[in-house]
Amino acid sequence: MKGIILAGGSGTRLRPLTKVTSKQLLPIYNKPMIYFPLQTLLTAGIKEIMIIVAPDHAGDFLKLLGSGNEFGCKFTYEVQDKPEGLAQAFIIGANFIQDDQVTLILGDNIFEDNFFDAISSFQSGGRIFAKQVPDPERFGVVDFDENKKAISIVEKPEQPKSDYAVTGLYIYDNSVIQKARALQPSPRGELEITDLNNKYLEEGSLDVAFVNGKWLDTGTFESLHEAIEFIRAKELNTTNENN
Ligand code: G1P
Repeated sequence: MKGIILAGGSGTRLRPLTKVTSKQLLPIYNKPMIYFPLQTLLTAGIKEIMIIVAPDHAGDFLKLLGSGNEFGCKFTYEVQDKPEGLAQAFIIGANFIQDDQVTLILGDNIFEDNFFDAISSFQSGGRIFAKQVPDPERFGVVDFDENKKAISIVEKPEQPKSDYAVTGLYIYDNSVIQKARALQPSPRGELEITDLNNKYLEEGSLDVAFVNGKWLDTGTFESLHEAIEFIRAKELNTTNENN
């Protein structure tokens, strides 16, 4: 299983913070944001990780993360020239993925859950993770039938059919490369991960699991603040337990 952390994008919603640095390098209490999705992959046992960055602050990622030695893994870096969608990660990363399966995590997503079992038990198709949220219109939204089987996934719907957001962790078999290559850009000019998930759904090979613990997408000032508070509380708790 290969891992990809997508840390592209221009972080426009977090201006002026993101004028001089990348969103994924902003501090979440005592660590840069990207440490959290990285830790999620490492905890899941993934050791070969590609980091996809935007051109503007590419050097800063290399400076921060280096070869991967310090983290017990191996990093490969690639540049996403323009923010042309999450699904483009599989086209950019095709040579790195080779014939393997791949887990994609977004560089601004913070998960409390441990995905070791979900990733080691993965065999084929796609596996995504949903979480109930108060503001589903900000996300990809999945709705279910009475047996909790996914019916549809819609990207940022004005009128969401459910309050289950699709979170930023995606596990796919190798057909993801060919599926991503066949996608057409959406009206906002992006290769949408939601379109990719719908291909797996149509094929009947998409497994929608659930996130149990806290999940934070740190794309807005409010959610960034919430993430900082959450990590601070966790860190202080651990320090108290150790004293
Ligand atoms: C992206 C995806 C969306 C997903 C979200 C999770 O949205 O397009 O489907 O729910 O990540 O964080 P973005 O944050 O890039 O707008």
